[in-house]
Amino acid sequence: MTSVSAFPTIRKHLPITGDINFKTPLAYQATRGAARAVNTAQMALAEAYINGLEVPDSVVRSMIHTSMPLLFQHCPGLLAPYQWVLNETDHIAEGSRELMKVQYDRPQAMLNQMLGDWEVIYPKYSMGLWERGAVDLEESQKHMIDQVIERLEIKDGDNILDFGCGWGCVPNYILSKFPNVRFTGLNLSHEQCEYMRQKMQDPKSYLSSGRFTLCEGDLNEVQFEEKFDKILSIGVFCHVGNMTNAFQKLASLLKGGGRVFIHIITARIPNNMSSGFTHKYIFPHGRYWNYDAVPNHNRDLKTINRWYLNGSNYHKTLTDWLHRFDASQETVKHLDYGMDYAKFRRIWRFYLLLLGTIFESCEGEYNGNGQYLLVHT
Ligand SMILES: C[S@@+](CC[C@H](N)C(=O)[O-])C[C@H]1O[C@@H](n2cnc3c(N)ncnc32)[C@H](O)[C@@H]1O
Repeated sequence: MTSVSAFPTIRKHLPITGDINFKTPLAYQATRGAARAVNTAQMALAEAYINGLEVPDSVVRSMIHTSMPLLFQHCPGLLAPYQWVLNETDHIAEGSRELMKVQYDRPQAMLNQMLGDWEVIYPKYSMGLWERGAVDLEESQKHMIDQVIERLEIKDGDNILDFGCGWGCVPNYILSKFPNVRFTGLNLSHEQCEYMRQKMQDPKSYLSSGRFTLCEGDLNEVQFEEKFDKILSIGVFCHVGNMTNAFQKLASLLKGGGRVFIHIITARIPNNMSSGFTHKYIFPHGRYWNYDAVPNHNRDLKTINRWYLNGSNYHKTLTDWLHRFDASQETVKHLDYGMDYAKFRRIWRFYLLLLGTIFESCEGEYNGNGQYLLVHT
């Protein structure tokens, strides 16, 4: 692998500022206390918004643009509101069932409107690649998958596992390009699996080609009889709490000489990050691994190449999703959200606005996406 740590060195031992990994016990505890205080302030703002406080988007954006550069560049330890964000947890993925309820099994008609649903590009819940000149969301998602094909060096005839396959967008697009590729898609979301089951009956879909196998199951428990030439996992490791065990599992599913490609949200700071708002309302137990975390977990798999994708790509994707979400209100407001629709709408608006703006801060150089190519050690 060519590059080394790409984030600035801020190994200050002072409380609150600098790298939390290099603090004295006292400075460490002071930083943890300050992180909890920052989290309480963020939650107060988020919940005021959710409960109806009228704040223009421009004001929310400017608050984020003021605070995030300070946090990323000087006080990254304050971006870890809970101790578990900093360390590995017990299971490969914590709280999977709760995550499905809060996030992935939401009314699919709403999610499909928000993410887009086209002939070959099905709803894709991960970054689109805009920096190659994409003119719209659909094209940005095609460009993103084209780049995965290049970086993972997918060849016709490969047998591939998609670990957390969403609605089957990536398999469908790759199957459309390679007549002899086979895919297995793993996903715990029952609703997303139902979408794929329908496509598997639709002659126009490549998921009906007989080359796609669907497995509805949990990353924690899944077993496969076969091993794969390639494994890809896009936008899933924010739900992985134990990278060591996840890599052990992926290594056991990979043929000798095989390759793994992981695409994650990442931050070029010394520690992992999360937020109380996303943990409570959007992605329970979700965390964004820092850019060095994947190569640092190198017991069963080792990183042979990695790429940082500027946050402007996810900023544009999330901003597009926010516009689509706003534009679809009349058609989706009658669906069952298990709560008052107005409240649901404010929770999701805040999520899309918050994340979309954070990716734009510091010109996208701190919070973006990481891609990693790994092989057996
Ligand atoms: C952000 S989405 C990304 C989906 C897809 N890779 C894409 O790019 O569109 C994360 C996916 O991981 C799945 N997932 C999350 N936790 C899981 C678990 N414990 N077991 C299996 N799938 C899981 C979700 O249901 C969802 O489909």
